[in-house]
Amino acid sequence: MLASIKLLIKKFPEDELYQDKIKRLKENIITLRTYTSYFDKAISENITRELEPQELDLVVAKFFKVISLDTGMNKVTVQEPEVNGGDLFTVPMHSSEWATILFNLYTNSLKAIKRADHKEGKIWIRIGKQNGKIYLEFLDNGDGIPEENKERVFEPFFTTSTSASHFAAEEDEVLGTGLGMKIVKDIIDAYGGEIEVVDAHPGYSTNIRIELPEASEIEMENL
Ligand SMILES: Nc1ncnc2c1ncn2[C@@H]1O[C@H](COP(=O)(O)OP(=O)(O)OP(=O)(O)O)[C@@H](O)[C@H]1O
Ligand SMILES: [Mg+2]
Repeated sequence: MLASIKLLIKKFPEDELYQDKIKRLKENIITLRTYTSYFDKAISENITRELEPQELDLVVAKFFKVISLDTGMNKVTVQEPEVNGGDLFTVPMHSSEWATILFNLYTNSLKAIKRADHKEGKIWIRIGKQNGKIYLEFLDNGDGIPEENKERVFEPFFTTSTSASHFAAEEDEVLGTGLGMKIVKDIIDAYGGEIEVVDAHPGYSTNIRIELPEASEIEMENL
């Protein structure tokens, strides 16, 4: 695939618009490959393994690595995740569920940043432990969620999106389905957790906070 792109690049060296489009195509293919291998891995782990406590700092570190490759293309800076405390093990879950959660929150943030038309988009993940719960906060400096929508964003088919995918080129953008947050909430609910839109830290406009029960001692023994 990338060999074919190389050939295309050589084709019209003087045509700037053409070169730009091919470059974008190449970046999209590389990003897509990174994501596919990330999801493939998560899904194969899902098939072979039982539910197990998820060590959130490892989960987040892996995801951070994948999205860091993507940010140049999206003009977004992903800050180094903030990790508060150690032993951040959630109740037993599938690791692929975390891939789903993080990817949904990430694409929402990219779209929000794009809507806000920022020159310098920012995303920041914070994790830690508080009152026996493991939490994850996903922050961005996008266009924000107005007060009246803070609960509605979790309803199925609630969407303000015009672009479902950040891979889409401007001319073939499609509508969001409004299912992303609903899917994330269903996963969190299934494990007795909570998800809500909370106040963002200075410099950020949106903060989606997830809380999940910590793994019990017995659950940790089977790890
Ligand atoms: N980080 C965010 N910043 C601003 N608005 C957000 C953010 N996350 C979600 N929203 C709002 O919540 C709506 C619902 O999000 P959800 O992920 O369910 O759907 P979507 O992204 O529009 O479509 P889909 O995820 O199905 O492709 C979004 O359309 C947007 O209005
Ligand atoms: Mg979404």
